Amino acid sequence: MNKKIKGLIREEKNLVKILLEVQKEIGYLPKEIMEYISKEKNIPLSKVYRIATFYKAFSLTPKGKFHIKVCSGTACHVRGSENLLNFLCKYTGSEPGKISKDGKYSIEKVNCLGVCAIGPVAVINGKYYGKLNQLKLKKLLEKIENEDKERERI
Ligand code: FES
Repeated sequence: MNKKIKGLIREEKNLVKILLEVQKEIGYLPKEIMEYISKEKNIPLSKVYRIATFYKAFSLTPKGKFHIKVCSGTACHVRGSENLLNFLCKYTGSEPGKISKDGKYSIEKVNCLGVCAIGPVAVINGKYYGKLNQLKLKKLLEKIENEDKERERI
C-alpha cells in the first residue's frame, strides 16, 4: 500500500469517500486495504464490506485497462449477446470475472443495462455501444486499441 493511500485513510473520516479514493487510485478495493481501513478507522470489517458491495461504483476485483460489460438480459440475450460474450472471450483471452494475461481486458456479464431497445449492448469503460454483432464489436475493439496506442505514443 502506498503512502498516499495510507495518508488518505488516516485523514479522511467518511468511509465512502475513503473507498472512492482507493477505488480511483488502484482501480478496485483489495481485501488487504479494506482490512487496513477497518483496523485504522475502528470500523467493523463487515461494515466496510457492506458499503463496498452496496454501491455499483465499487469493485472488489481488479479490472483490465478496458473493462467490458456485456448485457445478458432477456432482450439482449435473444439478440445474440451470448455470441458476443463468446467472441469477446476468444478475442481477449479472458472470461467473465477475470482479467486477461496482458492486463488489458476484463469482462463482466451483467443483467439488463436499461437500454434494451438498442440491444445487444456492451459497455466499454463506461461508454455504451448498442446493436452490436461480432463484426461491429471486433472493429470497435480494434479502434479502441488503435486510439490507445496513439495516446501512448504522444
Ligand atoms: S436486456 Fe440488455 S439492456 Fe436490457
